[in-house]
Amino acid sequence: MPLARSLSVTSLSGLEEWDEEFDREDAVLFEIAWEVANKVGGIYTVIQTKARLTCEEWGENYFLVGPYMESSVRTQVELIEPCNATLRRTIDKMNSSGCKAYFGRWLIEGSPYVILLDVGFTAWSLDRWKIELWENCSIGVPWFDREANDAVLFGFLTAWLLGEYAAQCDEPPHIVAHFHEWLAGLGLVLCRQRQLPVATIFTTHATLLGRYLCAGSVDFYNKLAEFNVDKEAGDRQIYHRYCLERAAARCAHVFTTVSQITAIEAEHLLKRKPDIVTPNGLNVKKFSAMHEFQNLHAQSKARIQEFVRGHFYGHLDFNLDKTVFLFIAGRYEFSNKGADLFLEALARLNYLLRVNHSEVTIIAFFIMPARTNNFNVETLKGQAVRKQLWDTAQTVKERFGKKLYESLLVGQLPDVSKMLDKEDFTMMKRAIFATQRQCLPPICTHNMLEDSSDPILNCIRRIGLFNSAQDRVKVIFHPEFLSSTSPLLPMDYEEFVRGCHLGVFPSYYEPWGYTPAECTVMGIPSISTNLSGFGCFMEEHIADPSAYGIYILDRRYRGVDESCNQLTSFLFQFCQQSRRQRIIQRNRTERLSDLLDWRYLGRYYVSARHMALAKAFPDTYIYEPQEPTSATGFRYPRPASVPPSPAHSLHSSPHHSEAEDEEEPYDEDLEVEKDRVNIRQPFNLPNRNKNQTVGLPEKN
Ligand code: UDP
Ligand code: G6P
Ligand code: GLC
Repeated sequence: MPLARSLSVTSLSGLEEWDEEFDREDAVLFEIAWEVANKVGGIYTVIQTKARLTCEEWGENYFLVGPYMESSVRTQVELIEPCNATLRRTIDKMNSSGCKAYFGRWLIEGSPYVILLDVGFTAWSLDRWKIELWENCSIGVPWFDREANDAVLFGFLTAWLLGEYAAQCDEPPHIVAHFHEWLAGLGLVLCRQRQLPVATIFTTHATLLGRYLCAGSVDFYNKLAEFNVDKEAGDRQIYHRYCLERAAARCAHVFTTVSQITAIEAEHLLKRKPDIVTPNGLNVKKFSAMHEFQNLHAQSKARIQEFVRGHFYGHLDFNLDKTVFLFIAGRYEFSNKGADLFLEALARLNYLLRVNHSEVTIIAFFIMPARTNNFNVETLKGQAVRKQLWDTAQTVKERFGKKLYESLLVGQLPDVSKMLDKEDFTMMKRAIFATQRQCLPPICTHNMLEDSSDPILNCIRRIGLFNSAQDRVKVIFHPEFLSSTSPLLPMDYEEFVRGCHLGVFPSYYEPWGYTPAECTVMGIPSISTNLSGFGCFMEEHIADPSAYGIYILDRRYRGVDESCNQLTSFLFQFCQQSRRQRIIQRNRTERLSDLLDWRYLGRYYVSARHMALAKAFPDTYIYEPQEPTSATGFRYPRPASVPPSPAHSLHSSPHHSEAEDEEEPYDEDLEVEKDRVNIRQPFNLPNRNKNQTVGLPEKN
């Protein structure tokens, strides 16, 4: 019997420890998800951002497995020959037996290997596989559920791939297969049922029932322990999907989820307590110049302002320099994502700003994909009018410049009254005429297919936020994910976030919530809730989150109306900040990014894999969980530059006018330095002080 290998990975130097004690040569990691090279939502972000770190750890022995989607492959994947003989044999064998598997490199950071399985090509096997599923697992999948049919095909194909790979290995292999979400879960169930030599992990990023129950009018969190899960799933016609999900969770050697709150939910709804929580990280970019991200904010904001100039043409009666950009983004789940609460709070904020005669204007963007039939004419026209005004200004400027130049050439100061001639005025009048508008600036940038039943549009109709001149709060609904190739707002999502002032994510159901996490690493403050994985994680690790620009709304212990008032008050306070206060707050927000870096959070995945190896191959691996120590649960302290008492806080109180702020001598570096002394010393992250951890026990 080989010597048992001891695996303990709970310290910050976990990766080095693994190097010392574990011969990874013979272990192979497959990570399987429907979102591999296929952008759907947050799970794509998990896989894509984590790839670099996992590649560093597993090198040539790491393979991502996903569905073959031609359009994504064309832009994201380079197809190549399989990288080793075993895989070549595996893929050849599968392809000669009636399936289409592709091998390539995903063109993202880390360039991981991908194996893409064409589910459509094997659709002819669907009925046969469904019968097998019924006979072996008693799960029946109805013909009309296309997503579930894909899950069946993908599941059988991945189990086939793993089984074939194991059969092609010369020595008995040590395979770890990590499956994400119910759509990929069947592969895991089949691995166990066929007793393949595979250590399996299942990560759920939400529970199906949780998502469905929350979207209805159910007191979800208080009733969690009481639901009759089979009945609830049946009532919603998702019983077969629920069975696939629950089977995967139950069969896995290691079951994980993305947050504590979802762990509790999974325990009640999937009837298994997760073995470990694997919070989601990001690939944090560090700029060489400390304030580079502030410059990026200013650049991106200028581009959003350009778009706004076009969108509000003819109604630009507000000061863009005193305009605050808010946004909400993500999958279109109206109440789960808290879009309902946000709209209601915007209506209240509109009232507050009006009665207080505020000079601030708010523009709230809703970036949530819905069914549309392209951009609408009025929105496109706005950008065309703006461009025309710009071109006119450029032409007049050139003609003006030429006259000025000619006058200087002959040694004369120009006669200013003659610098613009009739032709210039005609050109300008014509351009101004084009800005006449009979309607208000549109709320929605696209033609909606379900306009009359759309929840955002209906809510706006009810609360009456129609972008009128009196409104201090304006709304723009962009029912499509952003893209740098858009003719309307040519920015990718990251650029857009950087240019905004505040992300607003008042979710009711949110297992993690990447959107506020992404804001944080870009130094943009955000509002999340204590019902989201991210919000709870930040609350646990930061002593005074709002000082860092992390506003956490209480949706757990308050009624909807109270939460809405709290949200309104967060927004109102934010609007009263001066530019200087916003800059300081962005600096603080950005300083939290280490906490969300995969370099730190990736260790939970390492733990999960070790745990699974030890369970699946107990003769070869031992997993030794460590005892918690005093370092457990460390919190970021309050920033030192936050005034300790109300008397001191007067100096930077919100009532300071912006003009005063600009005049005040202000040493931002000094503020940053004060905070840094306080933060960096007690809270050391990877590569700084290897002996300290956050929330994880120390290495013995
Ligand atoms: N996102 C995007 N383009 C957009 C808006 C959002 O790529 O225009 C991404 C965003 O970067 C985030 C993901 O969509 O990573 C949403 O993930 P989240 O976990 O917040 O929620 P989910 O939609 O998965 O429930
Ligand atoms: C960044 C830039 C500053 C700019 C500021 C605008 O900090 O470095 O030059 O003045 O952004 O901040 P605001 O919150 O008003 O968009
Ligand atoms: C799911 C959840 C979201 C989470 C994402 C990644 O889509 O809805 O909250 O951030 O998965 O784990």
